[in-house]
Amino acid sequence: MTITTAVFDAYGTLFDVTAAARQAAAEPAFPALADRWADLAAHWRLKQLQYSWLRAITGAHTDFWIVTQNGLDWALEATGLDGDDALRARLLALYWELGAYPEVPAMLSTLKQNGLNTAILSNGSPDMLDGAVRSAGVAEVLDAVLSVESVGVFKPDSRVYDLVGQRFGCARHEVLFVSSNGWDVSSAAGYGFATAWVNRAGEPVDRLPWRPDTILSDLTTIPELAAKA
Ligand code: LAC
Repeated sequence: MTITTAVFDAYGTLFDVTAAARQAAAEPAFPALADRWADLAAHWRLKQLQYSWLRAITGAHTDFWIVTQNGLDWALEATGLDGDDALRARLLALYWELGAYPEVPAMLSTLKQNGLNTAILSNGSPDMLDGAVRSAGVAEVLDAVLSVESVGVFKPDSRVYDLVGQRFGCARHEVLFVSSNGWDVSSAAGYGFATAWVNRAGEPVDRLPWRPDTILSDLTTIPELAAKA
């Protein structure tokens, strides 16, 4: 089996979604975040994802930016930080410039040198993804940034995974799909992609009908994995 195309989830996989709350907590304007930023970040992420799944299931699609704000508002209230408009605005601004994990630029560059297609496949809106890709400086090592907005439904609807074959004309088994989200990588495995789960936090494997082919602790070895898959 030859992998021709490496496809990455964006948030939590290439870009560190906890960075916004962590960075705001380090700023003097937001002392209340000091002992709450990790809880806030976890609630924010979980609600953002839950809302994306529920909107996909019920056919109530909206832009991922709205879902991201809805998740943040729930998380701010849950952690007793609601009502601070400056904090809310700062967290949302930081979401547009999340840093990439340190190994990401070199890993993407090696994939390109090895002749693979590289892409992001994300729930993010095109504008959000453009901001993150620019701020991480990885635009030149990505052939495509594919957003669910072109099909109007969030992952793990199979129409999202269809975008890869439509863009690159490749078969499902030629795609190595990489995500830090257990549910995303399992669904992609069920779809027929080769899969790698980046499990930075050492979480248990999701109990779903499909399992990732490979489990990694970071993205460093993706080029080797793609070469030998
Ligand atoms: C994404 C979210 C699910 O980038 O992390 O699609």
